[in-house]
Amino acid sequence: MSVLTKDAASPAKDWKVTMNPDDLYKNPMDIAWTFKYLMSGDKVEDLYKRAKQNQWDSDDLLPWDTQVDPSKPLINDRSDIYHQMPFFKKLSKSQQETFTAHSTAQLLSQFLHGEQGALMTAACVTHSVPDATAKLYAATQTMDEARHVEVYAKYCEKIAIVYPMSLWLKALIDATLKSDRYEKVMIGMNMIVEGLALGAFNNMYRTTQCDLLKKLTFNVMRDESRHVSFGHAYLGPVIAKLKEDEVEDLADFAFQAVSILTHGGTAGTLASQIDPGFLAVLDNSGIDHKDFFKGLQEAQEAGITQELPPGQIHSVKDLMMPALARVGLLTPTVRKKYEEAGIPVFDDPRVLQAMEGGDPVAA
Ligand SMILES: [Fe+2]
Ligand SMILES: [Fe+2]
Repeated sequence: MSVLTKDAASPAKDWKVTMNPDDLYKNPMDIAWTFKYLMSGDKVEDLYKRAKQNQWDSDDLLPWDTQVDPSKPLINDRSDIYHQMPFFKKLSKSQQETFTAHSTAQLLSQFLHGEQGALMTAACVTHSVPDATAKLYAATQTMDEARHVEVYAKYCEKIAIVYPMSLWLKALIDATLKSDRYEKVMIGMNMIVEGLALGAFNNMYRTTQCDLLKKLTFNVMRDESRHVSFGHAYLGPVIAKLKEDEVEDLADFAFQAVSILTHGGTAGTLASQIDPGFLAVLDNSGIDHKDFFKGLQEAQEAGITQELPPGQIHSVKDLMMPALARVGLLTPTVRKKYEEAGIPVFDDPRVLQAMEGGDPVAA
């Protein structure tokens, strides 16, 4: 994998993308027809109506003529562990700014790639979910995700760089798309990946200095809050009717997916050291890999950690885990697995509920 770059002035067709054999696979999902077309009259139908009413066209809504300087940091957040490292503070101001600009570009690239994953999972749910209202809702989500791919691709064109998809994010979405039941696709996407995304979007919304990125993120977040609600409104009652062994199978799938996320790549973990995109960020900032990771290790040994400023959201603690807990996917059996894996379990749904209420920044 390599970093995709282009001259900001050159046409989009100049982008070069090479297909990797790992990016082509089959999924074992059943496809379900239904001939009961009556709408459900429940929360899923409400979500479908909200989705219809809240469609938007980025061409009309977003100020695409905003000038974006790709060499300048797009965010003013310095709370991550990298900016706390004594090693980092010794770098020149221009090197620090370059790192911040490129690491933000790397994050935006993950938004873009993740949205493509969401587009495919939503299409997958559309054809495999047996309920008519859920099918229609999933179709609206598919359109939402297409719009999200469009806006992030367009924004990445403005900053003239796309970093490769992080290995852990690819692994997480691949595991979701390769699963054998639509319930697992919804767990992987509508609860885990979208919980993660909603938190990351909220933090980007609060910290970016770019007017275009702020408006873009706000509108994407409004859609995402519906997608997370769908996971709860539809899957909750479905799971409640399943046999115990089927619930355990889903709970174990959720555990495996969370493990990929928590042990595979959050910032500052070992995975960053082998993530080609992150290494490319260091290269583009003129920072030696060994020096950087030595500095990171020293910072961690000195007890320096990432503290989220007020208003920012912890995706796993505030969104993802509570979403799994409230549909019954933190069973006693699987709670032991989380404990053995050293993954803390959280089940306070307040932040999640506030963000689902239609105002994604209410939390
Ligand atoms: Fe999305
Ligand atoms: Fe989504």
